[in-house]
Amino acid sequence: MSVYPIIMAQKSFTHKDNLNYPFEERGLQFGDGVYEVIRIYDGAYYLLEEHVDRLFRSAEAVKIKLLFTNEELKALLLDLLKRNEMKTDGKVYLQATRGSAPRDHVFPANIPANFYAYVQDQPRHSEKLEKGVSTITQRDIRWENCYIKSLNLLPNVLAKQAAKEQGCYEAILHKDGVVTECSSSNVYLVKNGNIYTHPATKGILHGCVRMRVEKFAHDLDIPFIEEGFAVEDIEMADELFLSSSTSEVLPVIKVDNQQIATGKPGAITRKLQEAYEADVKQRQIQFTK
Ligand SMILES: Cc1ncc(COP(=O)(O)O)c(C=O)c1O
Repeated sequence: MSVYPIIMAQKSFTHKDNLNYPFEERGLQFGDGVYEVIRIYDGAYYLLEEHVDRLFRSAEAVKIKLLFTNEELKALLLDLLKRNEMKTDGKVYLQATRGSAPRDHVFPANIPANFYAYVQDQPRHSEKLEKGVSTITQRDIRWENCYIKSLNLLPNVLAKQAAKEQGCYEAILHKDGVVTECSSSNVYLVKNGNIYTHPATKGILHGCVRMRVEKFAHDLDIPFIEEGFAVEDIEMADELFLSSSTSEVLPVIKVDNQQIATGKPGAITRKLQEAYEADVKQRQIQFTK
């Protein structure tokens, strides 16, 4: 996945080779920062406002003062795609850290936040969307504030790696027997026509696609119940699926080597995938006008 040449650094644009970070950088040394991944379809952002709003919420929660307003950042991110003549399916990764300063746990005084954003191609994973994926389950060992999209991803990295080592796509995380989310996506269980998912507490990331899934369910008259389900409920599920900006609405057909229902993506998951497709088309028009 190649990175496009022009990146955003602080509030301006430069060639990616010009980005030089000091080794005493708070993101590098403490994971003292927040980030976002925004999906691009055919060169246009999907859910740009939602991601930028969440970045501001995350930054505020950890007391990082961003260099721009919400509106300025959206304009800069649109410019970033234009400058790179981005026309395909991809994503933008962006991160803001507390800045560069001599290493000290205490916040440095009067240091500007560091920011960069870059564009990458990201083809859609059509085969997985069609056939579904396998997952494992793992204990959720993360902190209490997972609603903050922080750079501290070590537990998520370890969980995803464990999944990969077992030939799986994702790790479903659970705390005290209740499923929270996955290492890099939200997770939903379908039973008797209802969708169950963990409530949007501080214990999970409030996914931008999760917000859309809730709306799609509402539009389709499918009850969307924000109630955590138990790990033991999974084997009796009619359907299971994930959502995220890179995974989209992704069927899960196996958990810990146990097949879910028929082992094929379920009807409700398919309807939500169709709603997602339609939403992408509709929202893209907004941004290309
Ligand atoms: C832990 C976690 N949960 C959920 C999500 C899904 O969020 P979104 O739908 O905004 O991409 C992500 C995305 O990276 C994530 O890292």
